[in-house]
Amino acid sequence: MRAVSANLFALLLLCALASVLYVWSPLEERLERHTRRLSAPGGGSLHHQGLPADLSAKTFRALLAVPAAQRPHLGGRLEAHNLSHRAVPAGSGGYRTHEDDKGSTRREGPVQSGFPVEDGIFWAEWLEDLRPVGFTEEYARGWRERARTYRVAKLEPGCGRISNQLATFADGTKACVRYGINADQVQGETLTYYLASLLGITNLPPLVLSQLNSDSEQWGAVRAQIDGLQWSERAVVSLTQWVSNLTGVVTPAPLRQESGGLHPALGELRSKSTAELLELLQWTDLIAFDYLTANFDRLVSNLFSLQWDPRVMERETNNLLRTARGDLVFIDNEAGLVHGFRVLDMWERYHRTVLSSVCVFRRRTARRVAELHGRGDARKRLLELYRDSEPWSVDLGFLSDEHAAVLQDRIGRLHEHILHCKGKYGQL
Ligand SMILES: Nc1ncnc2c1ncn2[C@@H]1O[C@H](COP(=O)(O)OP(=O)(O)OP(=O)(O)O)[C@@H](O)[C@H]1O
Ligand SMILES: [Mg+2]
Repeated sequence: MRAVSANLFALLLLCALASVLYVWSPLEERLERHTRRLSAPGGGSLHHQGLPADLSAKTFRALLAVPAAQRPHLGGRLEAHNLSHRAVPAGSGGYRTHEDDKGSTRREGPVQSGFPVEDGIFWAEWLEDLRPVGFTEEYARGWRERARTYRVAKLEPGCGRISNQLATFADGTKACVRYGINADQVQGETLTYYLASLLGITNLPPLVLSQLNSDSEQWGAVRAQIDGLQWSERAVVSLTQWVSNLTGVVTPAPLRQESGGLHPALGELRSKSTAELLELLQWTDLIAFDYLTANFDRLVSNLFSLQWDPRVMERETNNLLRTARGDLVFIDNEAGLVHGFRVLDMWERYHRTVLSSVCVFRRRTARRVAELHGRGDARKRLLELYRDSEPWSVDLGFLSDEHAAVLQDRIGRLHEHILHCKGKYGQL
């Protein structure tokens, strides 16, 4: 009996030690990122400008970022779930272009075109017409095609943590290279990008995958830097377009915890300026999107941090930036889909709280969610788009069947929530 107790005690001790290591390693990594960010010359990050260096509330996200089951990094060919062939780059057009800027002057003034919500729960058509168009499909396709051919002339800090590097191409344009702490993160970033494309959400900078290969034309000039970073040869990394002059974004009042949420009966919608309404419109896409992908590394992590940092909502939201013309830019989506689904148990109640705070949607987003729900084919469509657009998709792999089912389930839940809002506010 005593021997059994001793064994049990030893086992418990081992479990406790393992848990500490499990939690500490990502925390340490995040803390390193935070420290580096605060001290980086030129400040790759905008998040903490003007804040004291000891203000580390956001690093608490780390405590919750349970590491993915460690997989070997993408040095070689990964298990490629259900990917049978490479295909030629493709995409679907049909969106307004970046240059279609008919709304730029009309955005500034107060609302003159009537109530911003119509048919119960949808942003009004006149507001949609003024919406910043973001990275249209056509624009993104052009960037992706060019980025595949560009040669990287320089790698330097400027895109956050050390595992991200700011790449300057030979023509002077830039991209953020994400090596990822593990393969899940590159996969999450990439599949999240293509899911946004399926939904017609154009707030994510264009992304391509590339294999680090110092013999290749693309990476040859930065061979020494890649060695210095200890990035493994033949790893698959993502490149996202670097966008200049971005600034931080604070969560708008109706979406903060202390408010009653963003819904069609909200009186203050009448007094908002067009620019404020356009921002809210993009936020509603962001919230629906982060719910689908279970991305905890934006608004949801702020909600969690409220427990010890009551003013967190007054600070800039993580991984969200804004262009001078008012487009929200959703960066750093690597927590989405893969990692986000793995740690869903821990975060789901926060995801639901955030989703339930919104009862206004873009009509097109709601329609696409309804289609994906009705057909039950999210996995198939995401896989096709990814495979047809990204030559390295075979090497990076796709969602597991289990995670594809989680995605379909979340699409259903989002659809139900939209119907619930329609039932509640449809008669207004
Ligand atoms: N596509 C981009 N265009 C311009 N700047 C970018 C882009 N991506 C990242 N950055 C800059 O790098 C910073 C950090 O980016 P990112 O979130 O990807 O890295 P991170 O290591 O996760 O940092 P954090 O812990 O702040 O989330 C951003 O706040 C922004 O200043
Ligand atoms: Mg980030």
